[in-house]
Amino acid sequence: MSFSLLAAAAAHGGGTPEWAMLAYLVAGVFFILALRGLSSPASSRAGNRNGMIGMALAVGTTLVMHGTNLVEIGIAIAIGAIIGVTIARRIAMTAMPELVAGFHSLVGLAAVVVGLAAWLNPAAFGIVDPAGQILPVSRVELGLGIAIGAITFSGSVIAFLKLSGRMSGSPILLPARHIINLGTLAAILALIALYTVSPMGGAGEGWMVIAVAVLAFAIGFLLIIPIGGADMPVVVSMLNSYSGWAAAAMGFTLGNSAMITTGALVGSSGAILSYIMCRAMNRSFISVIAGGFGADAGAGGGGGAREQRPYKQGSAEDAAYMLEQAEKVIIIPGYGMAVAQAQHALREMADKLKEKGVEVKYAIHPVAGRMPGHMNVLLAEASVPYDEVFELEDINSEFAQTDVAFIIGANDVVNPAAKTDKSSPIYGMPVFDVDKAKQVFFIKRSMGGVGYAGVDNDVFYMNQTVMLLADAKKMVEEIVKSLD
Ligand code: TAP
Repeated sequence: MSFSLLAAAAAHGGGTPEWAMLAYLVAGVFFILALRGLSSPASSRAGNRNGMIGMALAVGTTLVMHGTNLVEIGIAIAIGAIIGVTIARRIAMTAMPELVAGFHSLVGLAAVVVGLAAWLNPAAFGIVDPAGQILPVSRVELGLGIAIGAITFSGSVIAFLKLSGRMSGSPILLPARHIINLGTLAAILALIALYTVSPMGGAGEGWMVIAVAVLAFAIGFLLIIPIGGADMPVVVSMLNSYSGWAAAAMGFTLGNSAMITTGALVGSSGAILSYIMCRAMNRSFISVIAGGFGADAGAGGGGGAREQRPYKQGSAEDAAYMLEQAEKVIIIPGYGMAVAQAQHALREMADKLKEKGVEVKYAIHPVAGRMPGHMNVLLAEASVPYDEVFELEDINSEFAQTDVAFIIGANDVVNPAAKTDKSSPIYGMPVFDVDKAKQVFFIKRSMGGVGYAGVDNDVFYMNQTVMLLADAKKMVEEIVKSLD
């Protein structure tokens, strides 16, 4: 997403010389290599590096080609870089999803602003016919770019407010919202069509452009407010995709091939990620795009009164004893591991077990934590070997041959209600079959705390489950001491 924002900032009008086209092509290759690298934790650093090289090349090419206002642009880039570096250094890993949503809103806003600038001064962007009128094809691009940009902006602002807890994560359901959304969408498309064939010029048609922007801001807001907290990750990834398409549409208006390629890469990779996440959470892709999916199921972190049921509680010593007796242990990390920053202690525990001849594997759910790849990043930071880390579909069949399932700060991703309870907000999401393991250790801070979806978990009360109620890092450090 940062690609499209930077490309938006660097964009410049048509008539691109051949050397610049070649440089943009090379930048595009670096972006593709970046996406390829980011598909695995092992190659993600190289992926990031390739992305940065590609972006430096694209921005540098645009600046050299453009050649004017370099001081102003340099100052703007410096201010942006200082803000970006400061935020990146300060942000907690657990606050990444809202940061991403916040940045997407800027990409959307950039597309709207570039669109409005091109509409106000079309000659400077080379999109006029000999009579000085904006070309019909450029009108379509302008209209779509402004509309998608505005939807991305207001949708991302709502996602940011919900994810950061500044607005309730519960779905806000307007009556007849699907009819309102469809009506607004139809009005936006009709206005873009009218603008495209409009014989007027200049200020006479301005109301259409402004109306497209206002209606699109409204629909972005309307699409995201009905979405409950548990479904937010898919929304953020979908908005990521929208921001890419907005940038691509603006790339056509500006005749900037780097922006078109980059926007299309962001748009399609965001859409693919959304699709993968929808599959992981058993959501329908179409209903995500339509907005308000899953809302009727009452998704979103609520608490609610829960019946008191008997459970077993254990200590670090109990866990250490059972773990070292085991032949095979599967560790299931979740959001609580990130909160406690327990990954280093966890790796130390796994190392000790491996020294004692225990086979240790890590099982990662696609939506464990609060962002895609959250657990992979933390485990990689703690130097957990990649070949010990397995995806849900590759490891789920192994629980039946596992002595200990060690759940650390995960909850929803091991909740069997997803398989059995049709009224549960997580019903249909594939979950780990931890109930098949001989013994389960479950680390969380208290029996009162719930997972993101806000529902009780039968695993707490199973015969073979021992609850380890403490902060995850402290508990694992205690276990490591006991193993010594
Ligand atoms: P959750 O279901 O959110 O459960 C987190 C668990 O960690 C809770 O049981 C909590 O219980 C415990 N915990 C919190 N802080 C802890 C600490 N310091 N020490 C020990 N335990 C702690 O986590 P999950 O299983 O990873 O599931 C992820 C959920 O988030 C899914 O519902 C998913 O849809 C949603 N979600 C995912 C994403 C992405 S893309 N990954 C983004 C947004 C939302 P206590 O409070 O009792 O300690």
